[in-house]
Amino acid sequence: MTRVYEARPTAGVGGEITVPGDKSISHRALMLAGIAAGRSEIGGFLASEDCLATLRAMRSLGVAIERPEPDRVFVDGVGLRGLGAPIAALDMGNAGTAIRLFTGLLCAQSFDSTLIGDASLMKRPMERVAQPLRSMGADVRTSDGTPPVRIGGGRRLHGIDYRLPVASAQVKSAILLAGLYAEGATTVTSPAVCRDHSERMLRGFGAGVEVDGLRVRLEPAARLEAQRLQVPGDFSSAAFFIVAGLIAADAGGLLIRDVGVNPSRTGLLTILREMGGKIEVTNWREQASEPVADLRVHRSALRGIEVPKDWVPLAIDELPVLFVAAACARGETVVTGAEELRVKESDRIAAMSAGLRAIGVAHTMLPDGLRIEGAGDAPLVGGVVDSHGDHRVAMSFAVASLRARAPIAIRDVANVATSFPGFVDRARSVGLDVRES
Ligand code: S3P
Repeated sequence: MTRVYEARPTAGVGGEITVPGDKSISHRALMLAGIAAGRSEIGGFLASEDCLATLRAMRSLGVAIERPEPDRVFVDGVGLRGLGAPIAALDMGNAGTAIRLFTGLLCAQSFDSTLIGDASLMKRPMERVAQPLRSMGADVRTSDGTPPVRIGGGRRLHGIDYRLPVASAQVKSAILLAGLYAEGATTVTSPAVCRDHSERMLRGFGAGVEVDGLRVRLEPAARLEAQRLQVPGDFSSAAFFIVAGLIAADAGGLLIRDVGVNPSRTGLLTILREMGGKIEVTNWREQASEPVADLRVHRSALRGIEVPKDWVPLAIDELPVLFVAAACARGETVVTGAEELRVKESDRIAAMSAGLRAIGVAHTMLPDGLRIEGAGDAPLVGGVVDSHGDHRVAMSFAVASLRARAPIAIRDVANVATSFPGFVDRARSVGLDVRES
């Protein structure tokens, strides 16, 4: 039986909320702590299915990990050369970040390994990481471009100077992880800004990383040092509440505390402000080499805009919920240059288009985005939406219910647990009416 949300319209949202730890940072923290020397402590760890897949994989590679509380993790690092051969294929579940980053880490080890995942992950492109890793000397085989990924161990890697064809932080990070073990420096140049958590964290663990604009240079490492780090709240999870606040906050607004605001992640703020969204960012500080702040979101009369293509990589995971904001704006919003959405956990352009159609939002599907005719103050209709097993599609339509005149039923929502465990309770605590059955 697939899980379903019933999301009913309510009077609005208000009060304050925090969101669970950042997914990208939690994956990276486990991996780097596992190959560091000594005991690392990770606070604010995201105890989601995706990050637990990484945790189990690190254990299968011989790393002792204790988790005294769901979001507190102690990792006894085995050192750069201390990982051991797993006895079976490593199952990455739904996690694209885990499978791409592990491909980079494991192709530098002395043993063979195989990476697999769930039905969605088994369809996702892997040659984008396999190709550059092969050019470093690695033995990485995909099955017609998709998982299983079979990795032959015992290869000597050499550094490369690589230009990413797409702005992908996962590909960049996989190359950098392999580069830790390579002979000579590794350089990766991205065509546009994409998230830089790996660079920040590698430096924090003591690796030699230099960043010059879109270019990152990493020296092979002799040793990484264990760290204590506190993972910031995930901006991508906060995004659902940012849009909820903009379309339905009460007079006091909605306060979202302790959110990671790394500029390579916050393109949604730029876009929503351009649409007329009132979002205050206060209480800036630093945590785990990452900027963190509190966000106060006020109900705003949004207007449609044409989103510049170079803002898209900075908001790539937030586009599903941006489409909901656009549906509630006055006038037309156009997003193009987002063809990467076709190869995420689902084809997010097709899944969002079908869902928007089901709740009466006029729009046109483009090969690389959507053109949405916002309803302005008019309510959305309710309806039945299929999330296609995609966590971000499911949560986006839960937010849309705030402006609907009838309930929205959302099918196939179990995968919300891959990124946002406890979403329903937190959503209810600020005034959404979402129930899961
Ligand atoms: C991620 C990078 C992005 C993003 C994904 C997480 C990461 O993917 O969409 O959710 O943690 O590096 P791409 O590298 O495919 O752009």
